[in-house]
Amino acid sequence: MLIAQLTDLHIKAGGKTAYAGKVDTFAKLERAVAHLNGMRPQPDVVLITGDIGDFGLEAEYRQARLALDGLQMPFYLVPGNHDERGELRKAFPDHDYLFRHNSHLSYTIDDFPVRLVGLDTSVPGKPYGLIEAERREWLDAALREKPQQRSLLFMHHPPVAVGLNHMDVQRLNGAGELARVLNQHRQVELILCGHLHRPVEFIWCGRPVYVGSAHNHAVTLDLNPKAPPSFTLEAAMIRLLYLHPQSGIIVSHQSHVDACDGPHPFFDQHGRLID
Ligand SMILES: [Fe+2]
Ligand SMILES: [Fe+2]
Repeated sequence: MLIAQLTDLHIKAGGKTAYAGKVDTFAKLERAVAHLNGMRPQPDVVLITGDIGDFGLEAEYRQARLALDGLQMPFYLVPGNHDERGELRKAFPDHDYLFRHNSHLSYTIDDFPVRLVGLDTSVPGKPYGLIEAERREWLDAALREKPQQRSLLFMHHPPVAVGLNHMDVQRLNGAGELARVLNQHRQVELILCGHLHRPVEFIWCGRPVYVGSAHNHAVTLDLNPKAPPSFTLEAAMIRLLYLHPQSGIIVSHQSHVDACDGPHPFFDQHGRLID
């Protein structure tokens, strides 16, 4: 099984560029989609961890679909702080997993060797995330359904501060309570997040948390606590999670979206290492 993550698409209505024309978020999404379709093996599924639109407008989601519907594999959405649940549902009426609850867009997908658990961490109009009692209870009940089934939790907001201060202030609230739920469910092997616009990895609650890399603009890597919010145009990357068929271990890789120099062979036609 191969899982790809797309995150923080920040699509504008009509394909308009973002940040005074510095970031063509739609073109970057189109390139990411083409890259995923061109992979061999192709990913089995794409998880999209929020900030799909930039201002939570139906027109942005319709624009995003112009690229996302080109994916040759299924994709699943969870909202981020830039998203608006009702507008997202309007643009994705055929994504029936988005309609299971009135107050949040959380769901489980049981079509793959790893169970996919999408958790909506968004709070209308707020940049931070929150898991309050209702969503905790939903998650606990959902995980109780299949305690033996290895599972992956994906959500927008990372649960801890990572040293990027202007992002850390808008992390997930209620992470301690979320940890208490997860501690009851060891089958959740890893957690996938977005929001930080750069690849970050850490251990939390006894399991790896992978924050999606950016195929789009990256949040600047500046660990100075007084660093002003800023973005940097870095090499576009997509995180892949590979369920190794023999070991059964889920391995995280990063794939460059844009062409790199290579591949070049290590060995010549006689099998000798090229000097
Ligand atoms: Fe974002
Ligand atoms: Fe975000």
